Amino acid sequence: MKTISFLAVLPVAIISFSQLVAASSGSHGHQKQKPNFLVFLTDDQDRRLNSLDHLPLVKKYIRDEGTEFTNYYTTTAMCCPSRVSLWSGQFAHNHNVTDESPPHGSYTKFVSQNLEQNWLPLWLQEAGYSNNYIGKFINGVSPTLKRAPKGFDKDHWEPLVAPNIYTFYSPVFSTNDGPLEAHTGVYQTDIISDKSIAILDGLAKNKSNPFLFVISPTAPHDEVWFDDKGTVFTPPVPAKRHEGLFPGAKAPRHPSFNPDKNDKVSWIGTLPKLNDSEVERIDAIYRARLQSLQATDELVERIIKRLEHNGQLDNTYIVYTTDNGYHLGTHRMFAGKQTPYEEDTNIPFIIRGPGIAKNKKSNAVATHTHFPATVLQLAGLPIPDELDAHSIPVLADRSVYGKDQPTEAFSVEFWSNAFLENATATFTTNSYKSVRLIGQGYNLLYTIWCTGEKEYYDLVEDPFQVKNIYKHTKQSFLDRLDALLNVLRTCKGPTCRDPWSVIHATTNSKSKSKNHGSQKEVRSLKDALNKKYDEFYAGLPRFSFKNCLPYYLSANEVETPEHSEL
Ligand SMILES: *[C@@H]1O[C@H](CO)[C@@H](O)[C@H](O)[C@H]1NC(C)=O
Ligand SMILES: *[C@@H]1O[C@H](CO)[C@@H](O)[C@H](O)[C@H]1NC(C)=O
Ligand SMILES: *[C@@H]1O[C@H](CO)[C@@H](O)[C@H](O)[C@H]1NC(C)=O
Ligand SMILES: *[C@@H]1O[C@H](CO)[C@@H](O)[C@H](O)[C@H]1NC(C)=O
Repeated sequence: MKTISFLAVLPVAIISFSQLVAASSGSHGHQKQKPNFLVFLTDDQDRRLNSLDHLPLVKKYIRDEGTEFTNYYTTTAMCCPSRVSLWSGQFAHNHNVTDESPPHGSYTKFVSQNLEQNWLPLWLQEAGYSNNYIGKFINGVSPTLKRAPKGFDKDHWEPLVAPNIYTFYSPVFSTNDGPLEAHTGVYQTDIISDKSIAILDGLAKNKSNPFLFVISPTAPHDEVWFDDKGTVFTPPVPAKRHEGLFPGAKAPRHPSFNPDKNDKVSWIGTLPKLNDSEVERIDAIYRARLQSLQATDELVERIIKRLEHNGQLDNTYIVYTTDNGYHLGTHRMFAGKQTPYEEDTNIPFIIRGPGIAKNKKSNAVATHTHFPATVLQLAGLPIPDELDAHSIPVLADRSVYGKDQPTEAFSVEFWSNAFLENATATFTTNSYKSVRLIGQGYNLLYTIWCTGEKEYYDLVEDPFQVKNIYKHTKQSFLDRLDALLNVLRTCKGPTCRDPWSVIHATTNSKSKSKNHGSQKEVRSLKDALNKKYDEFYAGLPRFSFKNCLPYYLSANEVETPEHSEL
């Protein structure tokens, strides 16, 4: 089956998915049995606080049997936007679901953006897949909006329903959009486990019907209650059998943990040091998170054994990931997510299945926006050119990915007030755009905040991002990052996949320099740093926010002439 080349860097006519399917079927007489996809999607699970190291069954059944991607990221560190990127293959600046709740986020916003017309579940369904979902979906599934989105089978659609999505011993599900099903005294992950076994057994009755099955327990997310005082966050509740585990465990004391000197801009830089009782509470939250994940660990074993028992393990890709990361004590922040730093963006992604190397780690750079192309590619289905990222090179046979430009850089973006759990203060200056770049000889994070402040971290020297060296970095180097950020912040499809080519294809640039280089010459930061382009980059416009707004308004995010801030 032919996929569209990713080398086509300029937008080409978009061929509809069904046209592609029609064009490609028929040319292959007998179709091979399509693989199944089983996705374990946890909520707010960190990678940088080492939670994976406390999950022996995830290790035994997925890490040891598959490949772990150590440079895997969410591009918006918030559940709802992140989940929408995972299933749509679009950056938040394209899908515009930028918050957890209405009007700028939630399932309501997802529906109003028409995103279910054009996303992975629908493409798979059109290719004959049965798609199944249990657990937490996009935030905001509620008694009044709980229907299955297009692409999911109505008969296997069992989302958790607000306000009982984060109440571990009193979850409420909507079963196939029927009456609400409330449970008390039974642990959420264990109910999900039982329901999942029933669905798997149903699917095993017809093995020629390929499936996508998403199992999304809420752990290790905080427990969340809504009462007349507002929203109350308490540490996640473990299953009774896991209470008291890991008695000595503490949040890792990385150099970024509650530092004496907090070299941060905006609201983070002015946070006071956490005191001893706050640090003790942080460690208690850390233990509760690990305890709450133990039922997920058991769920993983049970599901994989059942797949094997049902004779479907060999033809199933199994993915373990989460929506976004989490910080505890990092840069003096108590607990949460939402920042551009590694704790919040770098997340677990492990995959096993046919053709995938076992017990291996890969440092290939990938994000949630890469996920739909990855699944389509493994299913042998065409990959729409409008996706913002290409396939993650998950197969051991790399020749399959010959045409893809490896991902070097992507944007990390955010538009919302910062919200510290239980805090009374609201921080209204947490909108930002970053370039996260991991390439040949470079590993960096460059951020422009809505306040106009800037941060640059060299993660080769400073993996915990404790030293903002923006003011000590050469302007010619920053010029490249500004140009890259200015393209990535609004990129779509091919432009996101190969931004340097687009920068160097700029013919109507305001730059006085004639030396644009050719598109083929510049494919990475290393290429772009050639001195002969100094003048070209110095003359390019750069990006800034006009104001701090808690949503994405194009008119608020503008290009300014070169060096106007100097
Ligand atoms: C994104 O959605 C908000 C409403 O939530 C709207 O005001 C804004 O114009 C949208 N932004 C873009 C770029 O479409
Ligand atoms: C099994 O699934 C295939 C593919 O979806 C379908 O064509 C077939 O009718 C199904 N068979 C039964 C017995 O349901
Ligand atoms: C939030 O406040 C509640 C009630 O005061 C308390 O029980 C809980 O531990 C606090 N949560 C966190 C995450 O500190
Ligand atoms: C630690 O800080 C909290 C505020 O976050 C405050 O309520 C508490 O009194 C402080 N404890 C000590 C021992 O200073």
